[in-house]
Amino acid sequence: MRLSRAFIGSLTTVVVTAQYNTTQPTACAELASALFERVFFPEAPTYNASISSYPFIQLRLHPNCIVRPSSAKDVSVALGVLQHNNRTRFAVKGGGHNANAGFNNVDNGVTIDMQSLKGVEIARGDGVVRVGAGALSQDAYDAAEKRNLTVLAGRIGVVGVAGFVTGGGVNFLSPQYGWACDAVVNFEVVLASGDIVNANATSNSDLYAALKGGQNNFGIVTRFDLKAYPATNLWGGRIVYAPTAATDLLTAFTKFKTPKSFDPYIAGWVTIRYNHSAALYNPVAIMWHTKPELKPGGLEEITEVKPQITNGMVEAPISEHTRNASRQVVATPRRTIWATTSFHVNPTIVHKVHALWKGLVPEICETYADASPSAELTFQALPSQPKTGAAPNSLGFSSTDTPEKDMVFLQIVFTFDGSEATEGLERGLKNLIEVVEELTQDEGVYHPYKYLNFAAWFQDPLGSYGKDQKKKLKEVARKYDPKGVFQKQVSGGFKLL
Ligand SMILES: Cc1cc2nc3c(=O)[nH]c(=O)nc-3n(C[C@H](O)[C@H](O)[C@H](O)COP(=O)(O)OP(=O)(O)OC[C@H]3O[C@@H](n4cnc5c(N)ncnc54)[C@H](O)[C@@H]3O)c2cc1C
Ligand SMILES: *[C@@H]1O[C@H](CO)[C@@H](O)[C@H](O)[C@H]1NC(C)=O
Ligand SMILES: *[C@@H]1O[C@H](CO)[C@@H](O)[C@H](O)[C@H]1NC(C)=O
Ligand SMILES: *[C@@H]1O[C@H](CO)[C@@H](O)[C@H](O)[C@H]1NC(C)=O
Ligand SMILES: *[C@@H]1O[C@H](CO)[C@@H](O)[C@H](O)[C@H]1NC(C)=O
Ligand SMILES: *[C@@H]1O[C@H](CO)[C@@H](O)[C@H](O)[C@H]1NC(C)=O
Ligand SMILES: *[C@@H]1O[C@H](CO)[C@@H](O)[C@H](O)[C@H]1NC(C)=O
Ligand SMILES: *[C@@H]1O[C@H](CO)[C@@H](O)[C@H](O)[C@H]1NC(C)=O
Repeated sequence: MRLSRAFIGSLTTVVVTAQYNTTQPTACAELASALFERVFFPEAPTYNASISSYPFIQLRLHPNCIVRPSSAKDVSVALGVLQHNNRTRFAVKGGGHNANAGFNNVDNGVTIDMQSLKGVEIARGDGVVRVGAGALSQDAYDAAEKRNLTVLAGRIGVVGVAGFVTGGGVNFLSPQYGWACDAVVNFEVVLASGDIVNANATSNSDLYAALKGGQNNFGIVTRFDLKAYPATNLWGGRIVYAPTAATDLLTAFTKFKTPKSFDPYIAGWVTIRYNHSAALYNPVAIMWHTKPELKPGGLEEITEVKPQITNGMVEAPISEHTRNASRQVVATPRRTIWATTSFHVNPTIVHKVHALWKGLVPEICETYADASPSAELTFQALPSQPKTGAAPNSLGFSSTDTPEKDMVFLQIVFTFDGSEATEGLERGLKNLIEVVEELTQDEGVYHPYKYLNFAAWFQDPLGSYGKDQKKKLKEVARKYDPKGVFQKQVSGGFKLL
């Protein structure tokens, strides 16, 4: 049932009836009467479009209705109605790219899909790009580049700004400028009370820090005011190597990740991809030089590794790299699950982690061969911490940590078809993380940090920030959401309480 404003205007009684129609979920009927054409029911094409916008099949749950607010005021109204119907679970969706089922959508409840709030505004000269919370990274880059500016957003265009930023945000310019969350100058947030507030260095500064890593625990962000940087070209892209190149590639990556070879202009990751049907391992590097005039710089060892099957290193604006990368992601939606862990780099650990993974993955996949599984092991650099004296984030690194120079985080991923394989592959994922962490502990390189944006639902990224940090986050949650709406009624996400 999609009630247009004109329809409601002429037939107000229909809405009133709907409100008391017990076969109709009450919250949705009330939302429809309060927010008119912003509420979509399963028969509406817009409802279907919202569901198909989730990139991974397991995320395509079916709420009783979807709300697409077009202003912070709409979000405030929706939160009021939902709390009045406090048995209705609800979810908040930014770009929809978190792979954990239920984090950004809900069966039977209500999903607030932010995608109509994706405007990007740039006032001349104040150095800030104001990005609606439903914007994708591509929207932000495209708008900023028109003014010869850029922002710290996702490295694939389809990634939502909201989840990316509130979880941390590893970006192209991270080696130079740090986490994307540290480049937020102001969050506009709707609290459970319905109040629309700013959180920045001078106003609600505790909430400002909490939103940098604490994600959906405090309110619904409706706008991100991001620091603007000068636009730049990147030289880089994807190199796919022959299977025999794995050892050399991981050696080159290890050298690149030692403190003395730290190069502030190089971003990206290396992945070993395993296709079970083809029984084939392919090493892949996806890396960029952010000052093309200095290329290849610290990338040289990686670009020299051979044999290469394809090499797509080119110089182009950021928005072109991110747009091309999106095409590869969107092409074939499948089920995707992931988990993460972090460690300090020493000369052998990357090879040892790889050997461990390579030894276990074929067996895990064989049990679920019907689901055509693929697996990935990705090593990525971590951003630097904000400078001493700068506004803090909540990620829990200490002031002596230099994660950008000597740490990596892992992403372990399975991609497959068919829900029957989910449980088993999740067990495999959990087991892989356990054995890798045993290894990194034995080698004395373990670090507790779990990057929230790549953490599995069974991991505890907020706890990984450390006891003190988690305590602070809990206090902020209690202060700004005393009834615990975001802890209890919002069904998905990593919880504090
Ligand atoms: C193809 C791909 C590429 C990626 N590239 C990168 C990368 O380069 N760097 C990186 O760091 N990470 C990357 N990621 C991980 C990415 O940061 C996370 O998947 C992130 O959750 C995506 O944000 P989203 O808005 O799309 O997600 P969603 O799934 O929509 O949101 C994630 C969580 O945030 C909450 N949330 C969403 N909107 C709001 C809001 N307005 N207010 C409060 N809470 C909200 C949701 O409830 C949900 O729990 C990538 C992921 C994918 C799939
Ligand atoms: C109540 O809602 C259901 C489902 O939309 C509909 O089929 C039914 O006709 C409604 N009943 C009344 C009395 O409006
Ligand atoms: C929405 O999707 C469902 C299931 O995929 C389909 O049966 C229905 O026809 C679609 N409706 C519209 C309006 O596209
Ligand atoms: C829902 O609201 C009712 C009435 O205000 C209250 O008694 C009840 O405790 C609330 N339930 C939850 C789960 O918050
Ligand atoms: C864009 O900014 C860069 C760096 O500040 C500058 O060198 C360049 O001339 C600018 N280009 C345009 C078209 O304004
Ligand atoms: C911080 O919030 C206050 C209060 O809403 C607002 O007046 C101020 O402009 C905000 N600062 C920034 C940098 O947005
Ligand atoms: C895996 O290999 C099979 C067989 O060669 C191929 O059909 C399939 O597309 C590959 N899968 C992926 C995800 O690349
Ligand atoms: C993007 O794709 C187009 C078309 O395939 C290609 O010409 C261009 O070089 C690519 N750019 C980047 C940055 O990969």
